[in-house]
Amino acid sequence: MTSTASTPTAPDRNLALELVRVTEAAAIAGARWVGAGDKNRADGAAVDAMRTFMDTVRMNGTVVIGEGEKDEAPMLFNGESVGDGTGPDVDVAVDPIDGTRLTALGYNNALAVFAVAEKGSMYDPSAVFYMEKMVVGPEAADYVDLRLPVAQNITLVAKALNKPVSQVTVCVLERPRHEPLVQEIRDAGARVKFIMDGDVAGAIAAARGAGVDMLLGTGGTPEGIIAACAVKATGGMLQGRLAPIDDAERQKAIDAGHDLDRVLTTSDLVTTDNCYFAATGITDGDLLKGVRFQQDRLITESIVMRAQSGTVRIVEAEHRVEKWDRWLSE
Ligand code: FBP
Repeated sequence: MTSTASTPTAPDRNLALELVRVTEAAAIAGARWVGAGDKNRADGAAVDAMRTFMDTVRMNGTVVIGEGEKDEAPMLFNGESVGDGTGPDVDVAVDPIDGTRLTALGYNNALAVFAVAEKGSMYDPSAVFYMEKMVVGPEAADYVDLRLPVAQNITLVAKALNKPVSQVTVCVLERPRHEPLVQEIRDAGARVKFIMDGDVAGAIAAARGAGVDMLLGTGGTPEGIIAACAVKATGGMLQGRLAPIDDAERQKAIDAGHDLDRVLTTSDLVTTDNCYFAATGITDGDLLKGVRFQQDRLITESIVMRAQSGTVRIVEAEHRVEKWDRWLSE
């Protein structure tokens, strides 16, 4: 679509609040399946609701960071056009449920997540699914470096936060691949807080100093790019390094022009500050409360962040149950 005065090509701040409707919808649809033991049904419902509500947002969006390819779950496709087509041209990153397993098993910290940024500003990981990540809050943002040993980064964080290393808490996805990392963190004298899934929430918690001071470890690249949109709004920092799982993926990344040794900063992952992030809790978590079902109402809690202004809003909303029949009646 061509740019005119009435259809500006850059997103403006009003978009931020529109995004929250999208994550509210995905969270409500996903919440119907909390504890039902079927992560694909939960994800499918959230994808469907997210797609439906995205198309009401005044934007001319293209999904550049889709999700779900790793386990053939339902998904929003890379390249899919979303939005009502009338607004600004934007890159869209979606994660209808970050924590499908958490949702299916009724564990804490599942979120519906959505990020939007000026067109062409989101990093293209070229199908390298995993990324090594480090996230810290604003105080330590200028000091840490993913190339340094873990213990040194932890010491730098402790210094920046003016507290002993023994009080530094590092959020880590609980995975066998992280055993050596966990040992290094503990050997340095710091604490580990494990999360079962959901490193977008973990990244935001680290960037906001909400219960943890750092996030370390390898997680999804799509989640890293989405989290970068949120981390930008906090003044914190996310550094990442692509982590191909095998030689074939490594070669593919090299052929696509990636330097696998390069440390990608928040600004490499999202090159503009004109970016927006929204998330709604599906299950209760450290960041947000999950969807609460009352007799005729549903209550949601969401966070909306805008990097340019650094504004972070927490939005509680009440929804009439009958309006959500399509996603709740099954
Ligand atoms: P899904 O809910 O999409 O399955 O993602 C959950 C998640 O924990 C992400 O937050 C994280 O980045 C990724 O999976 C880690 O991948 P893996 O489970 O393969 O270690």
